[in-house]
Amino acid sequence: MGEMSLRSFVAQLEQEQPGEILRVSEQVPQDFFLTSLEQELSRQQKYPLLILDNVEGAGGMPVVGNLFGTRERIARILNTTQAGFNSAWLEREESPIQPVVLPTGPVKEIVQVGDQVDLYQLPIARHFLDDAGPYISSGIVVAKDPDSGTYNMSFHRMQLKARDKFGISLHSRAHLWDYFRRAAEKGQDLEVAIIIGCHPAYYLAAACKVGMDVDEYALTGGLLGQGAELTPAQTIDLLIPANAEIVLEGKIIVGADEPEGPFGEYTGYSTSRSTRNVFKVSAVCRRKTPYYLDLVPGYSNEHLLLGRVAKEAHVFARLKEVVPTLKAINFPKSGTHFHAYMSFKKTEEGQARHALMLLLGLDSYLKLVVAVDEDVDVFNEEEVLWAMATRMQADKDVFIVPSVFCNKLDPSAREGVSAKMAIDATAPLEWDVIRCRTNPATDGLVRKLLGDR
Ligand SMILES: Cc1cc2nc3c(=O)[nH]c(=O)nc-3n(C[C@H](O)[C@H](O)[C@H](O)COP(=O)(O)O)c2cc1C
Repeated sequence: MGEMSLRSFVAQLEQEQPGEILRVSEQVPQDFFLTSLEQELSRQQKYPLLILDNVEGAGGMPVVGNLFGTRERIARILNTTQAGFNSAWLEREESPIQPVVLPTGPVKEIVQVGDQVDLYQLPIARHFLDDAGPYISSGIVVAKDPDSGTYNMSFHRMQLKARDKFGISLHSRAHLWDYFRRAAEKGQDLEVAIIIGCHPAYYLAAACKVGMDVDEYALTGGLLGQGAELTPAQTIDLLIPANAEIVLEGKIIVGADEPEGPFGEYTGYSTSRSTRNVFKVSAVCRRKTPYYLDLVPGYSNEHLLLGRVAKEAHVFARLKEVVPTLKAINFPKSGTHFHAYMSFKKTEEGQARHALMLLLGLDSYLKLVVAVDEDVDVFNEEEVLWAMATRMQADKDVFIVPSVFCNKLDPSAREGVSAKMAIDATAPLEWDVIRCRTNPATDGLVRKLLGDR
């Protein structure tokens, strides 16, 4: 296999499915444009990969966005289809491949250290009107566990504050937050590298939640089907992807506490909830003309899909262990990360309630879960609502669990807790109702006729 990079992925897509790419060659503003473009296309239910060739002030760097805008494109990263994604994910996750360390790589075509560092040379954009400033929303933060040395990758919004400084938020309080907490206890800053643009398999590995002992570079290798190619960073003791477009090196500073935010979050609201950390940059490594990957933040397809594709695979596998007739799970976009629909074949009354309790327990972000029969397509929200309209009675089929731990970015949550609602929209097993059916023979005829046009 050749170079596995952002540009190799884009080139392959361009060759095999050019209709999946929207290229803008006119000059466009750096600030706000990508978000406006994605939102307008989204209103038209279009989600192409976006390449902005001529962004004002970008110094000729193409800006790439909406890479993760569809499930099909995400499945392509694992060389599979949307239907095959869950099993492909689980299989690859269980087959990590150790990285390969190279002396150098294209990411070091230009290395700027100390006074040469000038973050204003990068097309770091403002995305929403109420954002506190320009933000990197696509940065993968790479760090090593201060005790075990295990590599972690995760996303953290980064507000550009000065030539060599960002505000950074660790509000999901996941592994990076714990690494920093432990480093700070020893009085040490935490060395981190920020990747802007690399093969999208790194992005999937960074977005998924796995155990603290899982090395996410090795996980990336499993997803790629070959060891991730890494090279030593220039000013810190970390390995970075040799084929990345841009990498920022530096430290999260112990004891620093500065305002960060507000920023447009996946809930669709602007929020200042932040851990108010500070990241000081010691080096910029980059290609001569790097692709600058931007990730459309806020309530966008790509922000939401990245956060949930691996989660859906994990939740599906766990729930299926207990509910063997489980057919599908969808965390719909409309619910941000707070709603999930499941379909299954019911064989006993009460099974839906049992499954719904398990589903709520498997993911603390969930606050509305709906169970439907296997004839309902959970990826078609209209069908789920139709099942609720015709198979659910609110006095019998709904239960609510008050005051449960939840996601604090939900603006309706109160003091970190939320009510959890479960809806059983399955039909009773004994039911004298017949769903309208069409004739399979004429269905086939229609498909043939329309397909021929
Ligand atoms: C697009 C995207 C943006 C995110 N932004 C942030 C952020 O700004 N701050 C934060 O603490 N977590 C953020 N997260 C969540 C973490 O990056 C994510 O939960 C990650 O899986 C944590 O990894 P870990 O479990 O290996 O630590 C974001 C996730 C995604 C997918």
